[in-house]
Amino acid sequence: MARKIWVFDTTLRDGEQVPGAKLDQYEKLEVAQQLKKLGVDMIEAGFPSSSTGDFNAVKEIATKVGNTDDIIITALARAVKSDIDAVYNSVKYANNPLIHMVLGTSDIHVEKKFGKSKDQIMDIGVEAVKYAKSLLPNVQYSTEDASRSDFEYLWKTIEAVVKAGATIINVPDTVGYAEPEEFGELLFKLNDRLKNLNDTVLLSVHCHNDLGMATANTLAAIKNGADKVECTINGIGERAGNAALEEVVMAMNTRSSVYQTYTNVNTKEIMNTSKLVSSFMGLDVQVNKAITGDNAFAHSSGIHQDGLLKSRDAYEIISPLEVGLEDMELVLTARSGRHAVKNALNKLGLNEFTDIQFEEIFEDFLEMADKKKEVYNHDLYIIVENYFKESHISDNFFELVDLQVISNTSFPSASVKLKKEGQILEGSAVGSGPIDALYSAIMEISQLDIQLREYNISSVSRGKEAVGKVKIQVEFRGEKYTAKATDTDIMKASALAFINVINNIVVDHLVPAN
Ligand code: KIV
Ligand code: ZN
Repeated sequence: MARKIWVFDTTLRDGEQVPGAKLDQYEKLEVAQQLKKLGVDMIEAGFPSSSTGDFNAVKEIATKVGNTDDIIITALARAVKSDIDAVYNSVKYANNPLIHMVLGTSDIHVEKKFGKSKDQIMDIGVEAVKYAKSLLPNVQYSTEDASRSDFEYLWKTIEAVVKAGATIINVPDTVGYAEPEEFGELLFKLNDRLKNLNDTVLLSVHCHNDLGMATANTLAAIKNGADKVECTINGIGERAGNAALEEVVMAMNTRSSVYQTYTNVNTKEIMNTSKLVSSFMGLDVQVNKAITGDNAFAHSSGIHQDGLLKSRDAYEIISPLEVGLEDMELVLTARSGRHAVKNALNKLGLNEFTDIQFEEIFEDFLEMADKKKEVYNHDLYIIVENYFKESHISDNFFELVDLQVISNTSFPSASVKLKKEGQILEGSAVGSGPIDALYSAIMEISQLDIQLREYNISSVSRGKEAVGKVKIQVEFRGEKYTAKATDTDIMKASALAFINVINNIVVDHLVPAN
């Protein structure tokens, strides 16, 4: 029978330790609300003794997010009275509050960091648990640097703090040193002893990613009896980060026959949560990051696109819908093969040509793909209509002719010239910044009521000739549209990305049906 794994999210504590990722109280509250929607069981909301701001943020989350019985709110304390008081006084407003405390067990921590004997450290831990227990019934004890600790001392500490009242034992691989097989064995031995001592105590793991093994170590622990996992969204956290929640959860779901476990996570909220955390914390997600990276569900090579069109399971182990993405879309690039291009043309009703004509159209496609990088549906209309020397559908599309953008401290402004149906259309606008002005000017010309939801700019090469890549997402009549463009001029790339998006909307809503 499948075993429940408790998901403890520490994005707002370990994740927030990333330099520059500190959030204000309102942002933390919004992330916590989204984590609740995601279905995590426990939220570690901060480190309240570190600042009044963090104390208040934890208190706010305990009050407003912890107000139902399906979620536990906690925060971190060192094993000292003032830290424990700060946690208690901030989490006590939740329906289910938990005090989490940490104290090292490895020789390095005991001797070098604290300069004390092992017995002294253990006594401090036991006294701290007793004190926390006098305040709240639920107390988690983290044996910091557990994976580098002497096993018998680690166990002796766990035994002592459980007898003092700890209800969760967390085993951290604090420096990401563990190896999956070895970590699995450690958890197996600890679980065996712990369940014999007190089978109501949860055994938890907290893995760091210094050797890129945080997810593997967490999963090895699950296989060997761990009841609870500590993770962060997008794997953010101290140094190389923590085990990524989306990876651990999707591995359990996708390989359920291996792990025989389940969680309460609503995987359809994964992408929303990832985007919120990434934008609030200003931490971009690596494009090839498992599950939440931009390319995690993108198929670009001709061989793969051909395979997917024949049978999706050829190259897809998770449906994008499961993590809250739109259904699979094959991105047409210069590496796409004939099968993918023919399929895309067919979907647009562009299929009345001979094999020889298709070959020539495919050549035109490759030429455009080399220039534009990504080819959209409106581009396919343009390619086919240019080939047949007609302009029935492509007349509806907008083309950039010229732009002028002025950035200054008082009135950023932009003027744009677009072409449609052979006519030049001009627009100009002021905005809160140059991009706002540019997009307002384009919107004035297109007369479409579009809301910009995401704007992302990155450099795809280096030096003076660096190419800027702009990716945007907009909403039109409740539907989301995404497009990209690249250029050495970032204003031009921004305009081209917006025009690509507008033309995609035109294809879907305004082009007369074939
Ligand atoms: O990495 C670590 O050991 C921690 C503890 C506080 C659990 O973050
Ligand atoms: Zn940590």
